[in-house]
Amino acid sequence: MPRIVMLNGAFVDAADAKISIMDRGFLFADGIYEVSAVLNGRTIDNAPHLARLDRSLKEIDIPNPYSTEEWIGFQNELIARNGLIEGTVYIEVTRGAAEREFTYADDLAPTVVMFTQPKSIVASKLAESGAKVITVPDLRWARRDIKSVALLPQVLAKQAAARVGAQEAWMVDEDGFVTEGASSSAFIVTHDGKLVTRPFTRTVLPGVTRLAITALIAETGLVLEERAFTIAEAQAAQEAFFTSASTFVAPVASLDGTLIGPGKPGPVATKLREIYIQKALAA
Ligand code: PDD
Repeated sequence: MPRIVMLNGAFVDAADAKISIMDRGFLFADGIYEVSAVLNGRTIDNAPHLARLDRSLKEIDIPNPYSTEEWIGFQNELIARNGLIEGTVYIEVTRGAAEREFTYADDLAPTVVMFTQPKSIVASKLAESGAKVITVPDLRWARRDIKSVALLPQVLAKQAAARVGAQEAWMVDEDGFVTEGASSSAFIVTHDGKLVTRPFTRTVLPGVTRLAITALIAETGLVLEERAFTIAEAQAAQEAFFTSASTFVAPVASLDGTLIGPGKPGPVATKLREIYIQKALAA
């Protein structure tokens, strides 16, 4: 099956999808993106992803080229044309192509790229054995609440993790507190059973999966504490896990080589993962 992608509203073979070398996404990382999970050929938690897409665009002054209904139509068409059952659907919007100048004209046509990627999210080695996580300094800009395509710090963090056989990197601010994963929201479970994650401020991306999980936490009678935590607190925690559209809930086995609890997936992360997947499949 040829890979079909969406470029500026047209469905084309991936090999024929071309964008300008003058695209500001390429020259300045002047753009934003979204990733929604797909299970059984259907998007999961898609409304908040599209709401965040709209917000990210507004925050950097790019007009949203499509309505929510149009975005959903493109996503579904792309999923169908690629026969995607399980994986992700990616959207990127850049400010468009223009002569290289830092400033931009108000009438630029945004560039829109969408594609699907198959991935086994439910049946996952990461969930079975727990992830190895390393920590790295958080080198990102001060508006981490915007889902910007300027991902160089995360690329370097993930590569550093991969080099030592780890699957995720937790980024740490100047005060020694974990901000979030390179592509996920970070949680710990304390010995008295409380779940701790950072509140949504400009220091982290407002994770859609994190929001869904915090709603589940309330429903299951668990207690959530929205505050920052240190590497040492995480290493001494009962459990740790991270959440994202491309992993759902991933338990953490070790952090910088220190086992978390017994060093395998804990009951809280396992339960939340199960409930999240059940709900996603039933929705
Ligand atoms: N990343 N924090 C960061 C920095 C992220 O890049 C992501 C997602 C998350 C989790 O957000 P959500 O639950 O809405 O997926 C948190 C996506 C999956 C990516 O870059 O591929």
